[in-house]
Amino acid sequence: MRELIVKVSFIPIGKTMKNKLVFTIFGSTGDLTYRKLMPALYNLMAGSNLDDNLEIRCIGRKALSQEDYIQLIQPWIEKGSRFPFKETIFLELTKHIQYIQMDLTKIEDYHLLKNVDQNSINIYYLAVAPEFFESIADHLESSGLLHKNLDYVILEKPFGLDFKHAIKVHDKLSTIFHQDHILHIDHYIGKEMIQNILAIRFANRLFETIWNKDTIEQIQITAAETIGIENRGSYYEQAGALQDMVQNHLLQLVSYVIMDQPKLMNHEHIQSKQIEAIQRLSIDECVFGQYTAKDDLKAYREEDHVSHDSVTETYIALQLHAKEGALKDVPIFVRSGKRMNQRATYISVHFKKAVNHLYPQDKLIDELLLIKIQPDEGIYFRFNAKKPGSSQEITPIMMNFCQNCIYENRINTPEAYERILNSAFHQDTSLFTPFEMVKLSWDFGSKVAKLKKNQGLDFYESQSDGPISADTLLNQHGYVWISADISDEAYQ
Ligand code: BG6
Repeated sequence: MRELIVKVSFIPIGKTMKNKLVFTIFGSTGDLTYRKLMPALYNLMAGSNLDDNLEIRCIGRKALSQEDYIQLIQPWIEKGSRFPFKETIFLELTKHIQYIQMDLTKIEDYHLLKNVDQNSINIYYLAVAPEFFESIADHLESSGLLHKNLDYVILEKPFGLDFKHAIKVHDKLSTIFHQDHILHIDHYIGKEMIQNILAIRFANRLFETIWNKDTIEQIQITAAETIGIENRGSYYEQAGALQDMVQNHLLQLVSYVIMDQPKLMNHEHIQSKQIEAIQRLSIDECVFGQYTAKDDLKAYREEDHVSHDSVTETYIALQLHAKEGALKDVPIFVRSGKRMNQRATYISVHFKKAVNHLYPQDKLIDELLLIKIQPDEGIYFRFNAKKPGSSQEITPIMMNFCQNCIYENRINTPEAYERILNSAFHQDTSLFTPFEMVKLSWDFGSKVAKLKKNQGLDFYESQSDGPISADTLLNQHGYVWISADISDEAYQ
């Protein structure tokens, strides 16, 4: 076996940092810290990308010793990090970590967070429910812990309880932190193939010129997960698939697919085009689903902290279109669900058939571009060609590029949280979502939520492809959902 631990070279990291950096995680015994943040920190350590000067403070209410906490995080790192687990690397990482037991609602506990070094830069990561955002910021300030122009706060979604509350939180935090230091995280932006969408679209004359309503018939975006809600019942009952996946992660994807070309490849220009794209979106139809039991998998309503008659959706399918622009009126179908039969995130762009009538239309395959985001990363392209031989028969050609099949690509590709934390540790805020976009996403979410009120919930069996009504949504236009497996049949 080849040794996988190599130095990752995506940003020359913190070795150059002058101030001490203190990364404080509120909610460090929560699912997000275990599943995403700890593996990301381990990956940074394994790639020699964690600065010696970094202190990681893990805040939790639970009475845990330092040893207990380290024991708790180890299996999550073993399971979730992209680098193989090595005792030595883990030990190195744990030297940076300090578990601090405190009650984040009690101001008298905040003295535990005092820095010895007055010039430390603090990054406060709020992986807690949004109702705590304001009081944490208040307590940090009142305890004299903040340097307004040095310190950062990172918010995990949902960025508020609703649109109004999100604005209230932002207004409040703006009085405590520098505006540009209030960071909203959407880890999908850190995914390699999502970063690749703009390159595919704008670095190729081929795609640049055909990305319009004359050539594109329809677009589909799928983010399917096999996991259920794990032990996040109370959170998920509030959020549902809408706030958990759709109004943030999937909306980001939609905006990358339909946005106009930015003037420059920097985050200001890109984000302003994304904002324009989201402003153009119109919602045509929605389907809301909830998973039921299968074998030993529980129904959503049987999960812990979920009401037995809950109407929270664990699945959403939407039909959208852009009201203006190059893709005006092209149907965009978006779906996301928990407990589906496959974990796969991908975008498919379906092209119109050739219009010259030289070949029988029914013999032509729909040309298709598939951008595979995860777990397979790559690009699949299907088009028509002549079947070898003496006839003029047409046959489909499939080209399949598997990006993460290549060893170098795998080891050089940081995970989303790894990439984003890395940039935050360098005070590079370009991978965070601007508040303008957060507001638009709440607006979008509120519109979808309103539609849900007039519509029932459709149930789907765990490990299935989602509710039947989501198929009908496409079938009525003569389309079907594309499966990620379609590229398995391809020639390499
Ligand atoms: C999170 C959601 O933001 O994204 C989770 O809260 C979901 O419910 C996760 O499982 C999916 O992220 P990824 O990176 O595994 O696709």
